[in-house]
Amino acid sequence: MVITQYSIKNQSRDGDQEAGEEGKLSQECKELLLSLPKEKGWRTSHLYKYQGFWCQSREIQSTISFQRHFQASDTDVILATVPKSGTTWLKALAFAIVSRKRFPIFSNDHPLLKFNPHDLVPFFEYKIYANDQLPDLSNLPHPRLFGTHIPFASLPNSIKKSSCRVVYICRNPFDTFISSWHFINKIKPPSQAPMPLDEAFEMYCKGVIGFGPFWEHMLGYWKESRDRPHKVLFLKYEDLKEDINSCLKKLAEFMGFPFSLEEERGGIIEKIAKLCSFENMKDLEVNKSGKSIKNFENKNLFRKGDVGDWVNYLSPRQVEQLTKVVEEKLGGSGVSFKVFS
Ligand code: A3P
Repeated sequence: MVITQYSIKNQSRDGDQEAGEEGKLSQECKELLLSLPKEKGWRTSHLYKYQGFWCQSREIQSTISFQRHFQASDTDVILATVPKSGTTWLKALAFAIVSRKRFPIFSNDHPLLKFNPHDLVPFFEYKIYANDQLPDLSNLPHPRLFGTHIPFASLPNSIKKSSCRVVYICRNPFDTFISSWHFINKIKPPSQAPMPLDEAFEMYCKGVIGFGPFWEHMLGYWKESRDRPHKVLFLKYEDLKEDINSCLKKLAEFMGFPFSLEEERGGIIEKIAKLCSFENMKDLEVNKSGKSIKNFENKNLFRKGDVGDWVNYLSPRQVEQLTKVVEEKLGGSGVSFKVFS
């Protein structure tokens, strides 16, 4: 599939059966894997601890490629997220904001009505640098928008040193866990047994989840947003749910595309919020039938979109356990969450 917005060919294949996956790794990456701590994965046989975070073998290869080759431009905007924390939503909102002169929000032909947000804002690790490809990114329209789950410490220096901006979103760990558990079970091939909730929960609390531990992921971006607020904007899913209009204004200003008074009076903020809302996006044909990330169906990216759904799944003992982890790891840091709607 060719991404119309960016003309980067998606060369990803259905390669997540790990045997096949490791077969496609470079010799350098295979040798590196031998030296890394590993644990059973949620979906693949293993997760490896690379630069302090857990990830799949192919994600390590694409991260290395990204670190070596990506040249940030001062106008780039990087959307960094904890998986299952609102990545799809943030990509849609950011795209709608920065491209609103080119693609009027009120148009019936808006790209977000025809493309999944992951096609419009590609992931570094799953698309741009996947499968050992090195695409030419110089012709992309500016500002370029990219997505990543990679922790701040492992971003390439060119991102850290340039004036490009990073928008981060995370979500309360209770809902993030439940969302991850549902998603993993939906994308597992039918030949694989579903992952029991209890097993996934124990791994989550130990930090063993893609791009985890979640607390280190959050703290890395949080610290940077405190030290360099012009560089990193730290958002939370629950805040967007509670007051999307204020969050949209903050996001637009941070990215360098503030709304004019005239735009505000014309209702642009409400229109963007509606265009990108869970209800609207979930029902679009492209999101009911297409595939955007790797070979996963878009429909699995839209489940409930609620705050507090975890109460339907976690036992009192599990709530206590995760509360303790959150207190131990994030207590006193300034990162705190709303966990009920
Ligand atoms: P649930 O599984 O709790 O429903 P990500 O985009 O990072 O993969 O996160 C997926 C989560 O965001 C899912 O949560 C999904 O339903 C929710 N989501 C997807 N699109 C959304 C939107 N436009 N608004 C709010 N939530 C959205």
